[in-house]
This record gives sequence, C-alpha cells and structure tokens, in this order.
Amino acid sequence: MKYSYKGMNIEIYESYDELSNKAAQIIAAQVILKPKSVLGLATGSTPERMYKYLVEMHSNLKLDFENITTFNLDEYLGITENNVQSYAYYMNQHLFNHININRDNINIPKGIVNDINGFCHQYDEKIASLGKIDLQVLGIGTNGHIGFNEPDVFFEAGTHLVKLDEGTIVANSRFFSSIDEVPKEAISIGIRNIMQSKKVILLASGKNKEEAVWEMIFGQVTPNLPASILQVHNDVTILLDKESGSKVKIELDKL
Ligand code: F6R
Repeated sequence: MKYSYKGMNIEIYESYDELSNKAAQIIAAQVILKPKSVLGLATGSTPERMYKYLVEMHSNLKLDFENITTFNLDEYLGITENNVQSYAYYMNQHLFNHININRDNINIPKGIVNDINGFCHQYDEKIASLGKIDLQVLGIGTNGHIGFNEPDVFFEAGTHLVKLDEGTIVANSRFFSSIDEVPKEAISIGIRNIMQSKKVILLASGKNKEEAVWEMIFGQVTPNLPASILQVHNDVTILLDKESGSKVKIELDKL
C-alpha cells in the first residue's frame, strides 16, 4: 500500500524482503540516472537484505558503482575498521567487497581518531565539497534515532561525537558477545547533513519499530524523537513492512 501524508511517501509492504527489494530498486535507479551520485548509507540489521539485492544487481545486471561516492552515517568510537563490530567492516562485508566502487570514494567516520572535532569538521566539509547527498538511506532506532542522533533537547547540526543512549547500547548488544563490549560513544553525521540530502529513504522492519515509526509520522516534530524532523523534508519515502507499519496503517486508512 502507498500513502502520502504531509508530503511524505509511505509505502507498506507485506514483508521485509519486499521492502528491501524496493529500497534496492530506488538506489539502483539513482545510480543509473546519475552515475556520479553521492549516496548516504546506513548499517544495522535493516538494510542488510537491501545490500544483498544491490550486490545481486551488480553481478547479474552490471549495476555500475564505479563513479559513486558514499558517506556512511556513523561509526562506533574506539574500534578499528578491521574490528568485526565496526561499521566499516559491516560495509565491506555487505556491500563494498562485492561491487566495483572505487575505494577512494568511500567515506566512513573513523572509529579511532585523535582530534574528534577536527575530524567531524572535515567530514562535513567533504560532504559539502561534493554538493549535497543525492540519496540518503536511513534506518530508525526504537527511540526514534536516525544515524546516531539520539533523543535530545536540540537537533545536532553537523557531524559530532555522540554518547549512545542506554537503550541503543542494549539494542545493539545483540551484535556483541556481551553488553560491556558495546562502545558507549560514536561519531554520527548530524540532522543538518541528513536534512540537506536531496532525497531520503527510511527503512523500518519489525514490530519493535512500530511505535517509533508512528511518532515519526504523526507525532510532534521534536529533537526528542529525531526522526520526526523528516516530516519537514521535501522528498522522503518511508518503506515499512506490515509489522513496523501496522499502527500507522490504521491511522492512514482513516484519512
Ligand atoms: C546505523 C544507524 C542506526 C540504525 C538504527 C536501526 O548506521 O545509523 O540509526 O539505522 O539503529 O538499526 P537496526 O536496523 O539494526 O534496527
């Protein structure tokens, strides 16, 4: 089902597989229409299948990433890119090792960095030097975070150091052998970076995302639920499966 609400496109699919396929198709269309696109990429469980589809499109349909530039949203602080828990490792494993992207065009915040503020500034400058992100892919935390922009009293503008919420640490501990191993801090691009992207797609799957998705679409625009800012982005598509979309569907069907 496809809906439009306050300018947001909301698509609810039967399954995680279908939403992942649709997300991959949107990215493929972007890459084909603009071979020098700048893509903003997310990690986490949700986009895994989308990356699998993109890898298949590269090998079966010759989807060409040679001139694509990517910026990842975030990285844990204190771990190297060779650490299996790092988002750099994740991106290599799920996408970059399997496509023809030029390694020089891959940008991921550094997990080990001396001058954090300097690094954040450089990351923002590099995005700005390429114009704007053409297509930003997002997931959403159960607390409504996007990137690692956690609930706060203001919207952080640019790339910044984040203290992860207890809930995020608990949620992400499923990837680590114990909760104590989950880094407590991360570097994340900011809300301005996300809002300046020309187009945003946000993917959410599973019952545990249902409340955050509802708040993002129907709640107040507030830094306490960072994803709610997308209500005022002018080109956002929200891809849901029926579990994450069940509560919003009830509301949308009444409109
Ligand atoms: C990941 C990121 C996060 C995740 C969010 C959902 O780069 O920025 O905002 O998108 O935590 O994670 P999953 O998909 O694992 O539920």
